[in-house]
Amino acid sequence: MKVSASFLSSKDIITDLRKLNETDVDYIHLDIMDGKFVKNKTMPFREMKNIYKYTSKRLDVHLMVDNPSKLIPLYAELNTEYITFHIEVDEDIEKNLQLIKSYSIKCGLAVKPDTKVKELIPYLPYLDMILIMSVEPGEGGQEFIETTEEKIEEVRSLLASYNLQTIISVDGGVNDKTISKCQKCDMVVSGSYIIKSDNFQQKISSLR
Ligand code: DX5
Ligand code: ZN
Repeated sequence: MKVSASFLSSKDIITDLRKLNETDVDYIHLDIMDGKFVKNKTMPFREMKNIYKYTSKRLDVHLMVDNPSKLIPLYAELNTEYITFHIEVDEDIEKNLQLIKSYSIKCGLAVKPDTKVKELIPYLPYLDMILIMSVEPGEGGQEFIETTEEKIEEVRSLLASYNLQTIISVDGGVNDKTISKCQKCDMVVSGSYIIKSDNFQQKISSLR
């Protein structure tokens, strides 16, 4: 299981990123919020881009914003492996996926808990990742929604029926208890479970 660490709940981002450098975590999950698509807002790009100074890990960017087309070119400049945006936005989905790919970066679509899996069908051929939200996007530290397990299975069978290698990632409320519900996915995003602990590596290892 790959593990992507979110520092959304961090009280000291620089220290926590340095501590994550000492672990075998696969990615740093960068949660970006615009105060419109979700009510919270994260720091602007000119501050967020400084992250490269403190992390040696590749980035897994999660855009919770109304206009991903504005931010994709910015986040594509960092040490980014994945850029994911939400299927629920009003912008042209296919165009944005192509825009991400034009930077040779892997692209993902995120689905909120109430969004139906079948909505993903038109975009399946373009996707490197499907990010299943196991909480309502917008803040860290929420409880894992139990029905996510069935949703993961539904996405897994959909991908198998099209013979696709797209990876499945799950985001929100992932910890040592809820990880058993994520066994059919390839990657989990975990924030507060790791960041609020005093042994990052132990928590990361418990999710593998
Ligand atoms: C929620 C974010 C998540 C979240 C994960 O909107 O997309 O990445 O911060 O944090 P935890 O693990 O605390 O739910
Ligand atoms: Zn996220």
